[in-house]
Amino acid sequence: MDNDHYLLHAAGVQKSFNGVPALLDGRLELRPGTVHALCGGNGAGKSTFLNILTGMLRRDRGTIRCKGQPVNFESPADSLAAGVAMISQELNPLLDMTVAENLYLGREPMRLGGLVIDYARLFERAAALMESLGFEIDVRAPLRRLSLAKRQLVEIAKAISYDSEILIMDEPTSAIGEAEAAILFEAIRRLTARGVGVIYVSHRMSEIFSIATEYTIFRNGGFIESGRLADIDAAHLVHGIVGERVTRSQRPATLRDEPVMLEARGYTQRKRFTGIDLQVKRGEILGIYGLMGAGRSEFLNAVFGLTRPDEGTLLIDGKPVRIDKPADALSNGLALITEDRKDTGLIGCRSVRENISLSALRSYSKAGWIRAERERDALAKMVRQFSIRASSGEIPVQQLSGGNQQKVILARFLLTKPRVLLCDEPTRGIDEGTKQQIYEFLNSFVAQGRCAIVVSSELDEVMQVSDRIAVFARGRISGTLTRAEASHHALTHLAS
Ligand SMILES: Nc1ncnc2c1ncn2[C@@H]1O[C@H](COP(=O)(O)OP(=O)(O)OP(=O)(O)O)[C@@H](O)[C@H]1O
Ligand SMILES: [Mg+2]
Repeated sequence: MDNDHYLLHAAGVQKSFNGVPALLDGRLELRPGTVHALCGGNGAGKSTFLNILTGMLRRDRGTIRCKGQPVNFESPADSLAAGVAMISQELNPLLDMTVAENLYLGREPMRLGGLVIDYARLFERAAALMESLGFEIDVRAPLRRLSLAKRQLVEIAKAISYDSEILIMDEPTSAIGEAEAAILFEAIRRLTARGVGVIYVSHRMSEIFSIATEYTIFRNGGFIESGRLADIDAAHLVHGIVGERVTRSQRPATLRDEPVMLEARGYTQRKRFTGIDLQVKRGEILGIYGLMGAGRSEFLNAVFGLTRPDEGTLLIDGKPVRIDKPADALSNGLALITEDRKDTGLIGCRSVRENISLSALRSYSKAGWIRAERERDALAKMVRQFSIRASSGEIPVQQLSGGNQQKVILARFLLTKPRVLLCDEPTRGIDEGTKQQIYEFLNSFVAQGRCAIVVSSELDEVMQVSDRIAVFARGRISGTLTRAEASHHALTHLAS
């Protein structure tokens, strides 16, 4: 195929930030009507490359051609005009505006000679777009009222609404579950059937193999290989991404019979979850699986005191405890790792060091000031343990790649020395190699006389990390399976 037939052809793309190279040789060839997976570990340079393709960042070197024509986008508006649209890893929506307004921001249909927005037509157009994509979303609702998954679908609809020939999706499903991704894949298939080319980034292997046909691997900013997914298997892809053999972490086959450490009895929050009874033993990891909106995160948030249950009792080591606010949870030895790093996670402009030690400040401060040395030691240990890729602990956390930001959140909570770890989608946006490190970490965490609850929307993950899996459906536990009993089929069945 000569260059003119590619929708997009990029080679030798380079980019440094303050003299530190982030991308050494960005390369990708996109054919019409295909989904091309761009693969690589956290910090490999994927988002940097894609941001260059869409004019968000300027490249230092390299060539980019769209349908054979050399291009040099200076802004996202340029790339949109040339038919390249991107759904970015971090969403920046206007939460108080309606879905329809967010969709057509800056290009709303007008009336009275362009003086006022024609809301009737705006809502009509937005509703028609959602319907054509099969997304069930009320376009008149303010975005704030939508779940993270639905906001993601709005972002996707927005990119599609530009009728672009090239659609770039940087982890479009990181905020939504595997089951929900099916709706997105349906929409993607409709687009590729019309000849649209999609560049797709995801850390979920199962997703890559189900939606993409071609792949390109970046590692440490460099191009490693590309080809057809039909010619390789997941192990080959993971090896290419990580650069070495990955050993899968494994739970011990059987656990000793230990006392119950955390128990919820009749936990109920109106309209969210009802009559949740569950027990987690010392040394145990309890997985919670379910579809989006099944009440899993809401339950976890209530356990941690972010919200209050209407009814129910929580017991730790057999004793009822009262948790009205997160501070109560922390003092009872609970820690929560949340799914949404933007809302509840990090302070972007502060350094990695500050973000990690934020909630642990008390254990490093003596008579009010922070003991710098102890803080530095603990930080160095965390950076090593989670392989956080940062040029130094002093750089603002917003300059880290997405997955590395997630690792900072994990590290921060572990410094509070919890006894019970509550994790909501702990490996969201995290690459295959580091995922296994995190599972290993969870194993050793609970082996030291502690326990954990892991909420996950990924079947492979929940089956790999849990000793038992409670499945939530419409706010109730629809069944609990041991790891041996669990299968994709059984879990999906219980969840629906
Ligand atoms: N604005 C910036 N300033 C400084 N360094 C940056 C900036 N943006 C990215 N980097 C660095 O460039 C490297 C590549 O980051 P990039 O975001 O492209 O990785 P990625 O492959 O998208 O990773 P992930 O899978 O975690 O999203 C990282 O080391 C990152 O810290
Ligand atoms: Mg990225």
